[in-house]
Amino acid sequence: MNHTSGIKRIGVLTSGGDAPGMNAAVRAVVRAGIYYGMEVYGIKNGFSGLLDGQLEPMTLRSVSEILNHGGTVLHTSRCPEFRTPDGREKAASIARVFKLDAIVVIGGDGSFAGAKELSEQGIPVIGIPATIDNDIGCSDYTIGFDTALNTVKDAVDKIKDTTYSHERCSIIEVMGRHAGYIAINAAIANGAEICLIPEKPFELEADVIQPILAGRSRGKTHFILIVAEGACSCEELAAQIKQIIGITPAVSILGYIQRGGSPTVRDRVIASQMSVHAVECLARGEVNRIVAYKGERVVDIDIAEALAQKKSIDPHTLLTSEILSL
Ligand code: F6P
Repeated sequence: MNHTSGIKRIGVLTSGGDAPGMNAAVRAVVRAGIYYGMEVYGIKNGFSGLLDGQLEPMTLRSVSEILNHGGTVLHTSRCPEFRTPDGREKAASIARVFKLDAIVVIGGDGSFAGAKELSEQGIPVIGIPATIDNDIGCSDYTIGFDTALNTVKDAVDKIKDTTYSHERCSIIEVMGRHAGYIAINAAIANGAEICLIPEKPFELEADVIQPILAGRSRGKTHFILIVAEGACSCEELAAQIKQIIGITPAVSILGYIQRGGSPTVRDRVIASQMSVHAVECLARGEVNRIVAYKGERVVDIDIAEALAQKKSIDPHTLLTSEILSL
């Protein structure tokens, strides 16, 4: 592919919650950028680093040996100043001082909303979806989801061993303040009895108490409840179960363990493919787009259109989890 656009110097940043595979994406942006004849600048700490002028030229060697590491070598942040009109204007003027022809934003939908605003200040952008939540409307898949899910699977398997042995009830909180993709997929992968997600409000009696009592009457001796952090407070849920049924559920909050660790093959490969695609868009002069994964293919979508897209959990996935919990 020929480099036909005037884009000669690009910046790359990671923003929002980190996700395993972000380093694979940074590496691929740097190497593909250099391959297509561009200079690549790493912007530290997301939009906050852009505001502070924390930019450094990256080389083929500066991204050696990062592919297999979790976190992000560029560091990341959530940046309230960037959300203000003055902050965005300042960010755009710093991008001009560094003569950046475009910025690659690796992150979630909050970061893409920021990227869109930067594009409205005349700085071309392209987004690569990376968040363990898998909740970006325009893309079937987001970098980090598979690794996080495998971490959850390992943790729940271990909690299940002791829950089974002691004939207990365990409530396990997984990440997902607004999205239940980790929770519902873990519920299927780990064989949970009950799964609660923010997208589907639940009723204590019908969705928690009755299934536990019915399970008991069918001879179940232990119960695993997987709860997305945005669905409810696990401590309150445990207290309610104790009060009504008389058993004392053990609560485990998996927390940040889900965001770390070496990325899986799926995350490394998809991060690499999406990032090369992003740079190829820039090389053709296609800007203000979000790279997405659709039906096992990497595609790109206009940023405003991408941000308007919503995705919801397939009701049949919920039913599958329910059928298999019997
Ligand atoms: O990275 C995704 C996520 O973990 C969400 O599930 C959660 O809502 C949020 O980030 C919490 O991140 P932080 O504690 O960094 O604000």
